[in-house]
Amino acid sequence: MALYSDKVMDHFQNPRNVGKLDDASGIGEVGNVKCGDIMRMYIKVDDNGIITDCKFNTFGCGSAIATSSMATELIKGKSVEEALNLSNQAVVEALDGLPAHKIHCSVLAEEAVRAAVKDYYDKNGIEYDPEDFPVHNCEHCE
Ligand code: FES
Repeated sequence: MALYSDKVMDHFQNPRNVGKLDDASGIGEVGNVKCGDIMRMYIKVDDNGIITDCKFNTFGCGSAIATSSMATELIKGKSVEEALNLSNQAVVEALDGLPAHKIHCSVLAEEAVRAAVKDYYDKNGIEYDPEDFPVHNCEHCE
C-alpha cells in the first residue's frame, strides 16, 4: 500500500485556497515546535458568522500542506462554531488517512483554524471561553 493516499497526494500537489486574504476577518498563525513548520490561516466571516472564504500559507512539509488545504475545504461555508469543532482527526479522515508519524502535521491545521477563529473573536469583541482555546501540548507536537 502506498504511504500516502491519493487524496493526500492530490492536496499536496494541487493545494486548494493557497494565498492570503487582504480583508481577512481573522488570521491564525501557528508553529510546530517539533519540526519548525509554520502555518498561517486567513478566514473571511460574514455578518451571520459564516466563513465565506479562507486561504492559507504553509511553510512546511507535504502533509502540513495537504491537511491545511483540506481544512480550508472543510470550513468554507461553515459557521465559525463549526470550524472550531473541526478536529485534526476529521481532516485526516477526509484525506483517507496519514502515516502515524505525520499525524502531528494535521494538528497544525486544526490549530491554525482555531487561532484564526480566536483572532476573529478578539477583533470583533466577541466573548468566548478561554478554555475553548487551550494551549495544545499533545504528544505528537512535543
Ligand atoms: Fe512539520 Fe509536518 S513535519 S508539520
